[in-house]
Amino acid sequence: MAQPPTAGPRLLAISDLHVSHADNREIAEALKPETADDWLIVAGDVAETVDDIARTLRMLRGRFAEVVWVPGNHELWTARRDPVRLRGAERYDHLVEVCRDLGVHTPEDPYPVWTGPGGPVTVAPLFTLYDYSFHPPGTSTVEEGLEYARGTGVVCTDEYLLHPDPYPSREAWCAERVAYSERRLAAVDGPTVLVDHYPLVRDPTDVLRYPEFAQWCGTVRTADWHRRFGAVAVVYGHLHIPRTTRHDGVPFHEVSLGYPREWRKWPVPVERPATILPAPAG
Ligand SMILES: [Fe+2]
Ligand SMILES: [Fe+2]
Repeated sequence: MAQPPTAGPRLLAISDLHVSHADNREIAEALKPETADDWLIVAGDVAETVDDIARTLRMLRGRFAEVVWVPGNHELWTARRDPVRLRGAERYDHLVEVCRDLGVHTPEDPYPVWTGPGGPVTVAPLFTLYDYSFHPPGTSTVEEGLEYARGTGVVCTDEYLLHPDPYPSREAWCAERVAYSERRLAAVDGPTVLVDHYPLVRDPTDVLRYPEFAQWCGTVRTADWHRRFGAVAVVYGHLHIPRTTRHDGVPFHEVSLGYPREWRKWPVPVERPATILPAPAG
């Protein structure tokens, strides 16, 4: 891990631990704070089973002063190997209850305020999902976009395992989540760190190897949230492309670990977990 910018407490972040991979589990088990007051944001895709998710968050909660979690698409899968057969919103609600029992912050709880270096800043965990509005090149409707993806064979596994029940569609669930999150964020005073599994703006998806995958990566409805809601940083994952980009001057940190076949290929070591506050130099 890179040296911290100060000796004081830090707001740290990681996502896409995917601990069903043994090599990733080892990395998760090695995550440790450097001070007793460090917080850890876990921005989704911990695992696919409730048992793995709970075990990992329990371990991290035992180490970090606060842990803030948002769901990734993998948490929301009703995977064959998970004895917990809950689907859609019921599955999400169950995960929220699991987190509350562990003392982990979720998008359904009062937003915690980071008062360490770089604070005070409200840390807002969000769950907004996606609505296929990041259309592939040459398409302009959801149906055209999905048809394009079916033609190339690049179709996200969510189509088979992430059920929107009781909503009629993932788009409808997304619309409800966006409205709920906007109401909550509008009530926040002062600066924020916005945390979501998805990048909030489309730009980071421009470098995807398969541009049609962007459909499963967010919604155009969140494109101005970093400006509207006073973000000093945005934290996300899902793309498995760890880096920081700036949009309207706001740093957007993609903090994923990703799959072993991916992280083994990164030419330079990536700081894990990433430091969000105090803001890293440069
Ligand atoms: Fe992931
Ligand atoms: Fe994901």
